[in-house]
This record gives sequence, structure tokens and C-alpha cells, in this order.
Amino acid sequence: MKNKSYISTVIANWKMHNDFNAALDLVIKIFSYSNMAKNVEKIICPPAVNIIPLYDQFKNSTFSLGAQNINENNEGTYTGEISVNMLKNYITHAIIGHSERREIFNESNYTISLKAKALLSNKIVPVICVGEPLEIYKKNRSVEFINNQLFEILSKIQTNSEILIAYEPIWSIGNKNPADPVYVEKIITKSKDFLSTIRPIRNVNHKFLYGGSVNSKNVLDYTKQQNIDGVLVGSASLDASEFGKIVLQISNNG
Ligand code: PGA
Repeated sequence: MKNKSYISTVIANWKMHNDFNAALDLVIKIFSYSNMAKNVEKIICPPAVNIIPLYDQFKNSTFSLGAQNINENNEGTYTGEISVNMLKNYITHAIIGHSERREIFNESNYTISLKAKALLSNKIVPVICVGEPLEIYKKNRSVEFINNQLFEILSKIQTNSEILIAYEPIWSIGNKNPADPVYVEKIITKSKDFLSTIRPIRNVNHKFLYGGSVNSKNVLDYTKQQNIDGVLVGSASLDASEFGKIVLQISNNG
């Protein structure tokens, strides 16, 4: 087991799956498998509409609730959007900058930076997603690409609060093509070094997670790496027994 001064984190990103009844059922099952798991920080991010109705279940559990996205503004004429203000009493974390939001909803690093600021000023931990598309990976330019994302999102943020960063190579997402753990470790190590050069946040407590086709068979290949501080799980988090196994393995083996 690696020597770490903090515990690993596992985040479930349900994406646009599960109506309320299915979400409640899944939460109850996940808790029955892994609510007792120690030494692992556990966060579930259901669709926004399910956050408040599920809140009471989470209050009596060892899991935290998170959002999958938030709007960067406090309130206003933004049809269909949800502000941090509306969720801040129910969530501890919010994923921002997921590649699906960047690609489908045209979110830029600038917008993601504003979202991070809005979260931090409301004491919610941002889970900032970064990661390169396939063509950048093939050209061996991943480090440069990710450093640019980190710089554009974080260089204007003044904070002492915790942030989480999820490295999710876009080509690895979708439960088909998990990235090589040694490659991920290399990228995350370089990104951590780069982060320490971004002046306003260089002393901030941060964790770097990996996301992309993580399942119960490969999770420890990632979390046993020295610099990978946890995982962000999509498809496999929709299956209670599979997600439970992921949580328990991290709990037992780091
Ligand atoms: P996946 O999704 O685990 O299904 O690859 C991960 C993510 O998109 O966060």
C-alpha cells in the first residue's frame, strides 16, 4: 500500500441516468454494499433534479452528495440553469468542465474558471475535469494540452480551500478503453508539478483523480500509483454491486 497522508476519493458520476425512484433504489443498494467502507472519501453525483429529494438518505450515511454541473452566476435570466446558491445546502462537491459539457455544451476554460470561483466562494469543493482528445494524445502533446487547461482555469483563482482535479483523457471515457495506469501516473505527476507553479493556488490542498472506464477489475491499478489520489467513475457507478466493489477495494487496499 502506498504511503499517503490522506485518503483516496471515489466519485460516482451518474450523468443523465435514473429518475427519482431508480436513483433512490440505487442509493439504498450502494449504501448496503459500501456504507461501512472506511478510509475512502465517497461522493455520489446524481442528476440535479434528484439532489434535494435524496438529501435525507445521505444525511445518515458516510457518503457525500455532489452535483454534475452548476451555473457560474448566482441568479438571473438563465433559463434552465441551476446556481450554486440553490444547491449549496445539499452538496459538498460539484463536477465542472466534464468533457461532455465542453464538447456538447461548448463550455470553455474561461467558463469553467468562473464556475470554480462560484463554488469556492460558497465553500463547495470543485471537481475540475481536464483531459486531452485522441488526436492530441496521438501527437504526444497531452502534457502541454492539460497544463494549458489547468492554467486557464486556475491562474486567476485566489483560494486556500481544497480543490479536486479529475484527469479524464477523452478517448478513455465510455467503459471501453481505460488508459494505461502508468501513463496516467506520468501525466498526473507532471500536472501536479505544473500546478505547484501556478502562483495563486500553489499552496492549495488538492487531489488528482483519474476517470475513464474505471471498474472493479482495474481500479486498484490506478489507486496504487503514488500520485493518483482516487477515481471518477461513470458507467460502473450505475451498478450498485460493481460500484460497491470499487469502493470496498479502495477502502481495503488504498
Ligand atoms: P466512464 O465515465 O467511467 O463511463 O468511462 C467516466 C466519466 O465520464 O466521468
